[in-house]
Amino acid sequence: MLPLLRLLQDGRFHSGEALGAVLGVSRSAIWKQLQVLEAELGLPVHKVRGRGYRLESPFLLLDEQALVNSEYCHSWPVSILQSVDSTNAEVFRRLARGHIPPFIVLAERQVAGRGRRGRNWVSPFGENLYYSLAIQINGGMRQLEGLSLTVGLALLRALQASGMVGAGLKWPNDVLVSGSKIAGILLELTGDPADVCHVVIGIGVNVNMLANKATIDQSWTSMRAELGHVVDRNIFIRELNRQLSQYLGVHQEQGFSALRDEWQDSHLWQGLEVTLTAGTEPVKGVVLGVDQVGAIRLCVAGVEESYSGGELGLRLHDDS
Ligand code: BTN
Repeated sequence: MLPLLRLLQDGRFHSGEALGAVLGVSRSAIWKQLQVLEAELGLPVHKVRGRGYRLESPFLLLDEQALVNSEYCHSWPVSILQSVDSTNAEVFRRLARGHIPPFIVLAERQVAGRGRRGRNWVSPFGENLYYSLAIQINGGMRQLEGLSLTVGLALLRALQASGMVGAGLKWPNDVLVSGSKIAGILLELTGDPADVCHVVIGIGVNVNMLANKATIDQSWTSMRAELGHVVDRNIFIRELNRQLSQYLGVHQEQGFSALRDEWQDSHLWQGLEVTLTAGTEPVKGVVLGVDQVGAIRLCVAGVEESYSGGELGLRLHDDS
């Protein structure tokens, strides 16, 4: 099915005859493969009598060569999967089988993409970025402090370098553009956090998604919607790898405190009135910033309080 997809990815019309000739199969075999494409990958194919077939919208498939043959070529090995439950889950399976980090797993589609706080992450085929990087942490808890915020900063810089100048951060690690979510980060951990452990850095970016194919329970946007053109995910991944390698290096050597001011400068909700939600009692306060370990600092009824934890989320005060 992949060779057919590669021929169709330009979004132009191709006749069944021409496709069959290139792939060395009959027109009816092409027709059957197109049915599978639509049914299994959810890719709408337009069929027009006399013109042939074309995908509803063009896209560029993930391409290992395009990731490797670049000036920013990075030493992290990459695996590209066509479909997976979750790239984070796949990394955990590989770690359990003895794969040695660092390594990256990418997928064209996730059928059970995981978001923070038990949410699912909508992951249609070929449109967005589903990226998981496994790293090893040797320094115990100190090396974990502020790590997810550091990843957010690296992701933000990669988006900005790709033209998303209006993007900013929302604690703990969402990336927003004009109040809408464009990317999210899910860090998961295996091993002993006090000693040697593995961290799976899961990153989801809405790259070329335009239509809301599944229900997304929050306002969202994509790079394509903001920039007005299709984005080559391979180029974006190279930039993301470059930024991650740089920021994770600083974090490893100097800790989050070295990045704290930079993070706060990019925090869209500095000084705003917010509600902190944690499943228990919501807390209302004004955002003061983050502390040395990445916890959010709020002024609550005139008193400074810090909060941290993967289950916490922020809402704007007036955002019902
Ligand atoms: C969030 O809720 O904001 C975090 C979303 C993280 C989604 C990414 S997509 C790649 C990786 N695999 C997953 O299952 N989730 C993360």
